[in-house]
Amino acid sequence: MSRFTTILKAKAQLAALKVAVTVLPAPRPIVLLGADSALKLCDTISHVGAKRVLVVTDAVLHKLGVIAPLSARLEQLGIDTLVFTGVTPDPTFSVVDHGLAMLRSGRCDAVLAVGGGSSIDAAKVIALAASNQKTPQQLIGVLKARKPSLPLFVVPSTAGTGSEVTIGAVISDDVTHQKGIVIDPKVVPVATALDPLIMKGMPRSITADTGIDALTHAVEAWMANFATTESDYFAGAAVRMIFNQLPVSYADGANLEAREAMALASHYGGLAISAAGLGYVHAIAHQLGAYYRIPHGRANAIVLPYILDFNRDVSESRLATLARISGLTDSSVQDGQAADIFIAHVKQLLKDLNIDTRIPGMNEADFPAMVTAAFAECHGTYSVPKYMDAADVTAILRALQQAS
Ligand SMILES: NC(=O)c1ccc[n+]([C@@H]2O[C@H](COP(=O)([O-])OP(=O)(O)OC[C@H]3O[C@@H](n4cnc5c(N)ncnc54)[C@H](O)[C@@H]3O)[C@@H](O)[C@H]2O)c1
Ligand SMILES: [Fe+2]
Repeated sequence: MSRFTTILKAKAQLAALKVAVTVLPAPRPIVLLGADSALKLCDTISHVGAKRVLVVTDAVLHKLGVIAPLSARLEQLGIDTLVFTGVTPDPTFSVVDHGLAMLRSGRCDAVLAVGGGSSIDAAKVIALAASNQKTPQQLIGVLKARKPSLPLFVVPSTAGTGSEVTIGAVISDDVTHQKGIVIDPKVVPVATALDPLIMKGMPRSITADTGIDALTHAVEAWMANFATTESDYFAGAAVRMIFNQLPVSYADGANLEAREAMALASHYGGLAISAAGLGYVHAIAHQLGAYYRIPHGRANAIVLPYILDFNRDVSESRLATLARISGLTDSSVQDGQAADIFIAHVKQLLKDLNIDTRIPGMNEADFPAMVTAAFAECHGTYSVPKYMDAADVTAILRALQQAS
């Protein structure tokens, strides 16, 4: 297929997707915000009449003691808890299968996710598969479930993915580590608690990586052709908050004001991508995760500067506006210079956060398949402002290899 035909096909698919997104507006969770809001969320779980809750989390958070107070509160409310601690970063189908088996054998009637995007996504698919009598693999794709999910509640522990508000859940193949995405408004939780106390213990490198994931969501949604007045509102607010508060929460993890602002910024990023979608940063970053096991947020941080440079010409006035909204400059500065100020600020932030840009084991022989997979994800799904060809992506991969 020629490049021209590929782009035409992608644009036709996108037009259909735009209609679907407009006709099927995504539900939004009730949001509880602030210190101890996770405990208040437990009260919300009791309101739906749940009797036995599956808590979906990972071993690290369980060991840190993040889960115990929530289980205790639920028990006080007369709700039994079963705790599934088997979530691993970038969860695979077998992780979800194990959680689902625990839910079924324990006859749980609601699910509470406590963790980063990995725990949230695993919980979303466990809750949806449970009520639909489908395997997690059968739910990959768009609108594959018929019945609503089991009631799902979410406490994010990273400020990051915004998964607590998106219509997506990302699950990886156990062997290839390629990511499959469940896209369905039914995975949006009933309620979520953005609680800075849960995020207080997040190590600096995870704070940095996940914070840049949130920034990438906002920037990709901002540059997307599907951007709307509403997605711009959320993306602009997220970028401003991240520029101001990510350096603070990185330097002082116990600063609850900064943690709370980052939690909200991450949520806004999720709202922005729900309307406007992602772009090549995610499509390429997912390959760095699949091939070289680079964590999601860090992979985005590594790729983001290259895509900002690539889009610089077509997105000049948009990036200039974002520079002004985020307080980097004002209207006295011309668009070209303002766009450059924005890109330079992002690059400096990545340096200040000491993001590790090395990718051990990069191999040129992997590049053609990585390019194909990136295009399969992006073209027809993401409304990017400018299309790349194979040579463009390969040049980025080579540059990343050289920098490693
Ligand atoms: N569904 C969506 O809309 C969406 C959007 C973006 C990303 N994702 C997915 O989310 C996953 C990444 O999630 P993530 O970046 O939040 O990381 P994660 O959930 O994989 O967690 C990364 C690490 O941080 C640790 N951790 C998390 N919170 C902590 C805390 N408060 N204190 C100490 N340690 C903590 C975890 O134990 C884990 O080891 C990827 O699989 C990605 O594809 C989903
Ligand atoms: Fe992301």
